[in-house]
Amino acid sequence: MAGTVQPSWLVIFLIFLLYGLPGEPKDNAKLTQPRMMSDNGHLVFTTGDNKEIRFEPSSSGRIKVGTEDLTQLLSQIKANKEDIDDIKSHGGAIPPEITNNLNQLNTKVSTLGNQVTDLEQTFHRVSCSSNPCQNGGTCLNLLNSYYCLCPSNWAGPNCSSDVNECQVFSGTLQGCQNGATCINNPGSFTCQCSPEWSGNLCTVRYDDCRNGGQGLCVHGICIDADRVISGQPKYQCICESGWEAPAGNPACVTDVDECNLPTKLCSSNPPVPCYNTQGSFYCGACPAGWQGNGYSCQDVDECSTNNGGCSTTPVVHCLNTMGSFHCGPCPPGYEGDGRTCTQTNVCSSNNGGCHHLATCSSNPGSAFPVCTCPQGYTGNGYGPTGCTQTSNICQTNNPCVNGQCTGSMHSQKGGEYRSSWRAAPSIHLDH
Ligand SMILES: *[C@@H]1O[C@H](CO)[C@@H](O)[C@H](O)[C@H]1NC(C)=O
Repeated sequence: MAGTVQPSWLVIFLIFLLYGLPGEPKDNAKLTQPRMMSDNGHLVFTTGDNKEIRFEPSSSGRIKVGTEDLTQLLSQIKANKEDIDDIKSHGGAIPPEITNNLNQLNTKVSTLGNQVTDLEQTFHRVSCSSNPCQNGGTCLNLLNSYYCLCPSNWAGPNCSSDVNECQVFSGTLQGCQNGATCINNPGSFTCQCSPEWSGNLCTVRYDDCRNGGQGLCVHGICIDADRVISGQPKYQCICESGWEAPAGNPACVTDVDECNLPTKLCSSNPPVPCYNTQGSFYCGACPAGWQGNGYSCQDVDECSTNNGGCSTTPVVHCLNTMGSFHCGPCPPGYEGDGRTCTQTNVCSSNNGGCHHLATCSSNPGSAFPVCTCPQGYTGNGYGPTGCTQTSNICQTNNPCVNGQCTGSMHSQKGGEYRSSWRAAPSIHLDH
């Protein structure tokens, strides 16, 4: 407002002109006569009572105090008074519409003529026309003043003070996230992200397995892990079965030799050969007598079908074993390997154990033959003493006359007995 505030000496001078110096002696002569006098270095003009001191320059003339044109200053005071009255008629405040329409006001002001030219120049000196708002701030014109609407990253009356976003945004979603280090710059800030994060505010997590890991694990599934060192991808591989990661390489590129594991994957009882392949293995076939896929084999119970091929007539016992079977021995009276049993001819050797004069005949279902002593012999037929010659004492002498004669095994002195009966070996044994 420097342009509208008048120097105090001018006001005093005007009062001096209008009312005269205080303490002036007042007598009748002095009340009617104007005077001009020197008083202690001062030049004093005095008028009569109710009289004026007049400076009357021509229309192009000037009254000057120092270098100031007194005429011009007086007309400026007049214009200022009109402006002040105008503001007062609007309640003293600066209505926004007036601020917004300052250009229109400027136009109006300029039409007021030469008298307000100075005022207008003064006005512009402290308004938006000097572009005081820095860094993209929006300038609002106030009367003889301005206001800067600053962007969020600048502050101060001219938007020239940097806002420290690291302080203002600390702990909010607008600041650096996830443990990042915030660095303030003039008008902005940057975030130094921790290793696992990226993006302006460090809100984007690194996914080192994106797009399925892009073959990072080869024969495995990629599992993303948190980066520990900046710029260094971190992930784990879960290998498919049959593959493993070699030392110092997370990728599953080494074949597992399943046939060399401590645990046998193919059947070990019975042993089945194991064949390793790249990423897998397979087992050979189960051996004869076993059934299964080779990973495990089960015993075949050969006896459950057709008695295992063992003889059924006569019935021979079939004995199942792990991986095989046996046929039991042929039953007594038969000979063979158990699959086929043929009837044994018990009489074929040594007359079947019968007395050499006895007739040997086989006895089905028995290991022993039937031995029959020949006519004139008696006995059970077995063994060397199985048949003994029958005595003819009854025949020769008819000792029993009208009785029936029964011979005995031992000849009796004094008589011979004839017998037509074959004596049972157990009867009449007389020792
Ligand atoms: C603002 O700008 C004005 C005009 O350009 C200048 O006079 C003033 O010193 C500035 N104020 C600050 C705080 O920078």
